[in-house]
Amino acid sequence: MPQMAKITKIMDMTYDTKLFEFQFIDPKVREAFSYDPGQFVELSIFGIGEAPISISSTPTRKGFLELGVRNAGNVTNYLHQMKVGDTVGIRGPYGKGFPMETLKGKEVLVVAGGLGLVPLRSLINYVLDNRGQYGHMKILYGTKGSQEILFKDEIEQWKKAQNVEFLMSLDKGDETWKGNVGVITTLFPKTAVNPESYSVICGPPVMYRFVVKELLARNVQKHRIYVSLERKMQCGIGKCSHCVIGYKYTCIHGPVFNYWDVLDLQEAI
Ligand SMILES: Cc1cc2nc3c(=O)[nH]c(=O)nc-3n(C[C@H](O)[C@H](O)[C@H](O)COP(=O)(O)OP(=O)(O)OC[C@H]3O[C@@H](n4cnc5c(N)ncnc54)[C@H](O)[C@@H]3O)c2cc1C
Ligand code: FES
Repeated sequence: MPQMAKITKIMDMTYDTKLFEFQFIDPKVREAFSYDPGQFVELSIFGIGEAPISISSTPTRKGFLELGVRNAGNVTNYLHQMKVGDTVGIRGPYGKGFPMETLKGKEVLVVAGGLGLVPLRSLINYVLDNRGQYGHMKILYGTKGSQEILFKDEIEQWKKAQNVEFLMSLDKGDETWKGNVGVITTLFPKTAVNPESYSVICGPPVMYRFVVKELLARNVQKHRIYVSLERKMQCGIGKCSHCVIGYKYTCIHGPVFNYWDVLDLQEAI
């Protein structure tokens, strides 16, 4: 059942992506709602439809929920017209998130392409809020151009955070950009990857194969690689089969998979 939630903040991040903060109207639901980084919710706008959206806030900061939403179609377009104080339905959280227990004490390599930074922001801030429990965190972020950079202010904080290395690349540079230009894999030769580190990857479908290739070339073992996959979803709870890849349901077995689990699935990555 969707629970009613009120929009409490809206921030424009780019020309087509906004960050929405929601609070459940029922204080009991607000208090009880807990999730793992990498999980998603089904967001409903009554009379319009539902869409699966990753949770971008971290469960370490309680009382609200943040979703970074690109205006892509019916539901997201309607949401983009909504104002602070308007209400939506939210059900979830659903799916398997990132393996935060497994990552404890380990070096973490975050590889985010485009909108993939939305769920990975949850993991990044979770690690920062539990700094003592995780090792060095290296973040590689790639996006199309300077107009598409998400979480600009937070990126500046991450760069200054203790034990964090942040590298970014734009597919296409412009006069405002002094950094690396090229697809995200062009960042790999610029940094050393510890083969013992655990990698978490989220981005456009084309990115996974090339990023995994870079990791394997650096002797990162397959069990240390996690990918978050996106598929067309409807129910979010394993009933409709819209999200099936081979014999796996992205909504319940994923969206975060260990690389071993998708290695043999045709069209997974
Ligand atoms: C696990 C998961 C997490 C996600 N997290 C996020 C997130 O954090 N942020 C985010 O912005 N998105 C996220 N998405 C993607 C989001 O769910 C989709 O973009 C969703 O389709 C948006 O719903 P909508 O109703 O706005 O768009 P829709 O109306 O479903 O349209 C989506 C796309 O499909 C096309 N389309 C629609 N109908 C047709 C048709 N009949 N024929 C051909 N093309 C069609 C549209 O043109 C558009 O490009 C996530 C998806 C999954 C599965
Ligand atoms: S979305 Fe319905 S089974 Fe996965």
